[in-house]
Amino acid sequence: MAIQWYPGHMTSARKKAAETMASIDVIIEVVDARLPEASTNPVVRELRLQRQRPCLKILNKADLADPAATKAWIDYYNRQEGVKAVALSCKHHGDVGRIPSLCQPLAPHRNDNTKQLRMMIMGIPNVGKSTLMNALVKRKIAKVGDEPAVTKSQQTHQLSVRHAITDTPGLMWPKIEHPSDGLMLAASHAVGRNAIIDEEVAVFLADLLLLRYPALISARYGFPVEGIDGVAVVEGIAIRRALRMRGGEPDFEKASIVLLQDYRTGALGRISLETPETRRMMLGERLQPASDADNTPAPDAA
Ligand code: G4P
Repeated sequence: MAIQWYPGHMTSARKKAAETMASIDVIIEVVDARLPEASTNPVVRELRLQRQRPCLKILNKADLADPAATKAWIDYYNRQEGVKAVALSCKHHGDVGRIPSLCQPLAPHRNDNTKQLRMMIMGIPNVGKSTLMNALVKRKIAKVGDEPAVTKSQQTHQLSVRHAITDTPGLMWPKIEHPSDGLMLAASHAVGRNAIIDEEVAVFLADLLLLRYPALISARYGFPVEGIDGVAVVEGIAIRRALRMRGGEPDFEKASIVLLQDYRTGALGRISLETPETRRMMLGERLQPASDADNTPAPDAA
């Protein structure tokens, strides 16, 4: 499923973000801890590298993610130059309070007690940027909402004499390169409901859960999962929850929404949709046909 979603305000948001970055010391890039790479906007990475700005990478919603996968991601990002990664939950104000002091060492030239540290929050819609901003400024200035792209204009706030922070509208990218990223983003509600079909996303999620967290399905819905596929999981949910259509058939659409909601709210348990290892495998598989072709000896080369 290729999701293309680049409304006009996203184009102007990108331009404005590029301009603002010139007068910023540290980028705070917020991603979803459950799918850190799929929720990393390559445009943010590109702008950041262009301007050579250090980055505090926040793996937000860590309360919903699998702790072992989150740890693997933190190690992975901390190996990247100019990046410091932390996992937190923006809903915990204690976690958020640490952010300015985590940014400070990334810009040592602004650490002389006279210069203000200028930070900028970036990230795709729905990763928690507004929640983070509200917690940082300790009042409600950014609208929090579960529909993507709620933050629409750029704002700068003085956190103290030493720290200022600017937020940017959620930045989407012109085309999501890997179909599974589109499905992970849809499962996590980072792309709007009109852009995707709940049933397709639910089956993708069910297949992934069968592979990595089968016990969580049985624990939540009370049926065994041995030998079944994602479609059967969604049907099983419809049957267990008595979700039926008029003719008595299992209501696949309603059961899909139940599964997606249970994942999104954490009712299913702490789940990560990708790990550095699964990401590496996914990228390797996608590259395989091309490299196979490259390695195929020419007919006269034997
Ligand atoms: P955005 O600005 O990046 O678009 O994201 P926003 O802050 O609007 O957050 C999107 C949703 O994610 C909100 O849910 C918000 O509460 C939730 N959220 C943000 N940070 C965290 C976190 O660390 N953990 C968890 N579990 N959820 C988080 P919502 O359903 O729209 O609002 P609410 O009813 O939860 O307030």
